[in-house]
Amino acid sequence: MTTMTVDSNTSPQSSQEATQPVADISSNGLDSSRDYRQTVGKIEVANTKMSMRDVNVSYGDKQAVFGVDLDIAKNEVIAMIGPSGCGKSTFLRCMNRMNDTIEGCVVSGSLKLDDQDIYDPKLDVVPLRARVGMVFQKPNPFPKSIYDNVAYGPQIHGLANSKVELDEIVENSLRKAGLWNEAKDRLDQPGTGLSGGQQQRLCIARTIAVSPEVILMDEPCSALDPIATARIEELIDELSANFTIAIVTHSMQQAARVSHRTAYFHLGYLVEIGDTDDIFTNPKHRLTEDYITGRFG
Ligand SMILES: Nc1ncnc2c1ncn2[C@@H]1O[C@H](COP(=O)(O)OP(=O)(O)O)[C@@H](O)[C@H]1O
Ligand SMILES: [Mg+2]
Repeated sequence: MTTMTVDSNTSPQSSQEATQPVADISSNGLDSSRDYRQTVGKIEVANTKMSMRDVNVSYGDKQAVFGVDLDIAKNEVIAMIGPSGCGKSTFLRCMNRMNDTIEGCVVSGSLKLDDQDIYDPKLDVVPLRARVGMVFQKPNPFPKSIYDNVAYGPQIHGLANSKVELDEIVENSLRKAGLWNEAKDRLDQPGTGLSGGQQQRLCIARTIAVSPEVILMDEPCSALDPIATARIEELIDELSANFTIAIVTHSMQQAARVSHRTAYFHLGYLVEIGDTDDIFTNPKHRLTEDYITGRFG
């Protein structure tokens, strides 16, 4: 059962704080003068689309995310980077309540989409997940035709009043996902018959089809070859005209290529946030520098 705690006195952070080893920094030979538990950089943005404050996430008695504060702007692409296990996916999943599906996962803090509290117990997560869509690491088309993969969401959300309208949504979504030309003559064939890169673009088309405001992407290219990856990266740039995108990536080159801002996570803390150019050329925190220069992680 996933529960939501808002009382900061009972938030998992307080109980774990003492056990979180500050010594980790010095034992790695890194800058111990600057506490990595205090985010460096500006978390606020103009034109806020999502706003997260004091987000803590635990799996049972193990805390994975500690007191993260972060705003995401409308139409920005924000990249989340950091060593494996630092909490990137966990934090990303908070933003459309995907962690609700994980037994024993507890999220606390404040998470807002526009001005709406997305952890409001009265909120229906189905429309939330249409507004904040998600693309996963491994392309996961439904075992259905290409057409049905894209049409399914609009159908269950009642977005089309006729077959003509549904056809239009399917075509537009496939066009925006850069898959229309490759798919238009085989719409009735299984989505699973496409190549990996095409399947990922199909999953993006499926996400777009329900007109999301935010798209969360968790290492969307890690199962793809360089050409398919380049295609998705181009697409991310095109999509940012219409959508807000948060992308987790283990590739710093990818973060540098696609994002406007970059967030660096370490041991569940948001260590540094800033404009991507600054993060990669002039990181302020020693941990960020060590990571981007490949000394760590
Ligand atoms: N479903 C889960 N159950 C228990 N622990 C988990 C689960 N998912 C992730 N974790 C733990 O939470 C921490 C953060 O994981 P994750 O968010 O997947 O990191 P990242 O995406 O940065 O690699 C890790 O220590 C991981 O082992
Ligand atoms: Mg991950």
